[in-house]
Amino acid sequence: MVVKKAAKKKPEVVKSASNEERIATGIKNFDSLVEGGFEKNSINLIVGSSGSGKSIFAVEFLIEGIKKGENCLYITFEEGKDEFYANMLEFGWDLAKYEKEGKFFFLEYTPEKVKTMLEEGGGTIESVVLTKNIKRIVIDSITSFELLFEKELEKRESALSLFNMLSKWECTALLTYEGTPSPEKKVTSRVLDFESDSIVLLYFIREKKRRNRYLEVLKMRGTKHSLSIYPFTIEKTGIIVSNQTYEGELK
Ligand SMILES: Nc1ncnc2c1ncn2[C@@H]1O[C@H](COP(=O)(O)OP(=O)(O)OP(=O)(O)O)[C@@H](O)[C@H]1O
Ligand SMILES: [Mg+2]
Repeated sequence: MVVKKAAKKKPEVVKSASNEERIATGIKNFDSLVEGGFEKNSINLIVGSSGSGKSIFAVEFLIEGIKKGENCLYITFEEGKDEFYANMLEFGWDLAKYEKEGKFFFLEYTPEKVKTMLEEGGGTIESVVLTKNIKRIVIDSITSFELLFEKELEKRESALSLFNMLSKWECTALLTYEGTPSPEKKVTSRVLDFESDSIVLLYFIREKKRRNRYLEVLKMRGTKHSLSIYPFTIEKTGIIVSNQTYEGELK
């Protein structure tokens, strides 16, 4: 009932052919490639090498949520909140202001916090998600999360419990993963590949004398997504995906 009302007020909430409510990323020309956005409450992976635009993509997804009145949580391993805020302000995204207004939450997760979270089935992070009514979550990056665990089995088990927790929280999640996408080989671990509802690849490729950026939707469950590759650029307003497909070879 409540959902229906909200959908009426906000025409931008798109329903796909499969009638799943879509969560728009707000990234220019991206949502139309995926029937309007990520599926509500799905877990999405964004994979790219260093500097490919993962964090910018992730923050832009959160900003879109804030604009729609959805509270957002950004979880990171890396320190340097001030520098991160300053970098994002370049795009006009005032995270400090949203934080003060109680719309944006920034959590640095230490290895200890992660372990407590998994052992206690939630911990500090869960209490933020539940008490602050978080609707969009970013974990930037899940690679650092995996590195916390030495043994392969531990990595798999912890990734599984993290995914279970994210599903339980009823948020739409975006996890970044650092790796160089390649058309031939898999980049992420099998558990991440399988457990995630969608995978978006960001390529940052040297061609002749410069690097160019390309985006590809590798999978999105329940979605008739585009199978093409698109150039994209990072502009003053954020990411802009080209509306023309790329017909070259990605190497
Ligand atoms: N204000 C800006 N205008 C245009 N391009 C920018 C701007 N700020 C950053 N960039 C580009 O975006 C890149 C950084 O993007 P981002 O931080 O999203 O990458 P990332 O994939 O998260 O990298 P990492 O894996 O190192 O965290 C920069 O290296 C630069 O090329
Ligand atoms: Mg980053």
